[in-house]
Amino acid sequence: MKPPNIYAPRKPMNKKLIVANWKMLPETLAQAREILETVNNYLEPLSELELEHIGIIFCPPFVFIEEVEKMMSLSRLRTAALLGAQDIAPQSQGALTGEVSASMLERLGVQYVIIGHSERRWKLGENDEVVNAKLKTALENGFIPIICIGERTRVGDWKHELDEQIKGSLRGLSQDSVARCIVAYEPVWAISTNPGSHSDTPESASASIEYIEEFLHQEYGTGAARYLYGGSVTAENAEGFLQRKEISGALVGGASVRKEEFIEILNIARQFSK
Ligand code: PGA
Repeated sequence: MKPPNIYAPRKPMNKKLIVANWKMLPETLAQAREILETVNNYLEPLSELELEHIGIIFCPPFVFIEEVEKMMSLSRLRTAALLGAQDIAPQSQGALTGEVSASMLERLGVQYVIIGHSERRWKLGENDEVVNAKLKTALENGFIPIICIGERTRVGDWKHELDEQIKGSLRGLSQDSVARCIVAYEPVWAISTNPGSHSDTPESASASIEYIEEFLHQEYGTGAARYLYGGSVTAENAEGFLQRKEISGALVGGASVRKEEFIEILNIARQFSK
């Protein structure tokens, strides 16, 4: 079992978490190193107290995880960043071509796992049943899941879509397990790489998060550990999201590999961390 995680509880440290979802980038390990070096250089002059206000979770592609972990443990990053994976096999053991198991991730130092990302749901056909199996596997193996929830469009009864997605993804989870999850509210229409995308507004994202929290209480008798917003978060709009009390961090895709911009986002998050 892993040591207790320092970022999941809302108290006593209410820092704004920035989850860097690198997706299928960068192209090379050398570029991955550059991103980490840039973040490390940013952290270098900060005091211990200032560092306490920074919480980063790097989620690199599987093939870079080992190197990222090494770089993290040998630098200032170890005080402010933890490792996440972008996915996990739906079962702990067995023959599953192409999958990466929980124990492999654990040995690499991974503590968080993104589950049910909309690109996996809608581009790769991952249904709620698979998402649910991955979520259970992650929890059974002591990871903190970052479960992505979001409607595809705002046309029609989109809140019903959220309800169904939550029920399908979290089916059979105990109250304690739900309380361990980090929920990332990511409306699919807001993901930067989707055609015609634009970020949600901070007000509307907060309202959706409140709706999700209420629904979780109603269904499971508890809320999640934290709620993040994701979908076209940039240095330009991050402040609007991160200053809101309902939003305890951001799941950042495109901007997380644009190193200078990522630093700006970290800097904004720091201001709103308590
Ligand atoms: P984006 O991606 O920030 O590029 O919109 C977010 C995500 O897909 O998690």
